[in-house]
Amino acid sequence: MARILVTGASGLLGINLAQEMISEHEIVGVDRGKLVNAPFKVLKVDLLDSGAVDSVLDSVQPEWLINCAALADLDACEANPELARRLNIDLPAQMARACKARDISFVHISTDAVFDGRKDGFYNEEDLTNPLGVYSKTKLDGERAVLSEDENAIVVRVNFYGWSLGGRRSLAEFFFNNLIDNKTVSGFTDVIFCPILANDTARVLVKMLKKKLSGLYHLVGPQAMSKYQFGVEIARRFNLDESNISPKSILSSTLVAPRAHNLRLSTHKLSTDLGESLPEFSTGLNEFYTQYEQGYPQKIRSYAQ
Ligand SMILES: NC(=O)c1ccc[n+]([C@@H]2O[C@H](COP(=O)([O-])OP(=O)(O)OC[C@H]3O[C@@H](n4cnc5c(N)ncnc54)[C@H](OP(=O)(O)O)[C@@H]3O)[C@@H](O)[C@H]2O)c1
Repeated sequence: MARILVTGASGLLGINLAQEMISEHEIVGVDRGKLVNAPFKVLKVDLLDSGAVDSVLDSVQPEWLINCAALADLDACEANPELARRLNIDLPAQMARACKARDISFVHISTDAVFDGRKDGFYNEEDLTNPLGVYSKTKLDGERAVLSEDENAIVVRVNFYGWSLGGRRSLAEFFFNNLIDNKTVSGFTDVIFCPILANDTARVLVKMLKKKLSGLYHLVGPQAMSKYQFGVEIARRFNLDESNISPKSILSSTLVAPRAHNLRLSTHKLSTDLGESLPEFSTGLNEFYTQYEQGYPQKIRSYAQ
């Protein structure tokens, strides 16, 4: 059992990571006040406050820190680039420095969106990055800052789905919430990504930490699909009406921040270093459905005030 500090514990990834890891590890979460009933210890801290990172690490003394705190809303980053810079670059750099000084294993979460999507095929870790918007640019600079502060840190580029505290954070919840109410939605046919269940992401991260991996890895699902196809897969698994999803181009959307069309990421490096393949999309989707049947979304939401 390790003591693991999870920052951003109220976020989509953080809450599922913490939930996934509590059976085997001691979890301490950090958030700014949403979590009131979580089944693990939670510290209410604004990580941007001066001295906050050092004082949390000194009081918790974790073996591992997994940083899920970020400004992860693309349009919010466009509206507030200064806050994006502080949360996505300065904060993880500070964490990496503080972890290195204390011999704490540090995992920082990045994004698939560091690429411009113009490649025909799967991106590997050596491929040229070219982030398109403020979010992606700050995430890429955050990766670089972390690895230059702590060469033993793990930085993972992810794209996950799952049940969230507010019930509306993930793309899977977007499709589910609308389809269950028999509402029509659009699904982009020209944005390709490699979704993985947040709980699978958590299990893979634990394996990476146990194996003492370090450096940059792609941690996404092994199957690529369009966002439209993802919606169809959700509809089919939950027995909802897939004809309520209209195939659309992202070019017709009103989203503010630019988005890449191809975010197929190769997981070859990670599966080779782990000695096993990453969880299949269908396995994760089945688990997402089983979670629904077993009341997991309500359980997660009951942790918040
Ligand atoms: N969602 C995706 O599909 C996706 C895709 C690619 C990469 N990622 C990356 O994955 C990571 C997690 O994303 P997510 O979707 O789980 O994010 P999220 O749901 O937006 O959660 C962000 C977390 O950061 C916390 N936070 C923000 N500012 C803070 C501050 N000043 N002090 C303390 N905590 C603060 C938030 O706490 P509050 O609740 O208090 O605001 C929240 O817990 C991010 O690095 C993101 O870039 C996500």
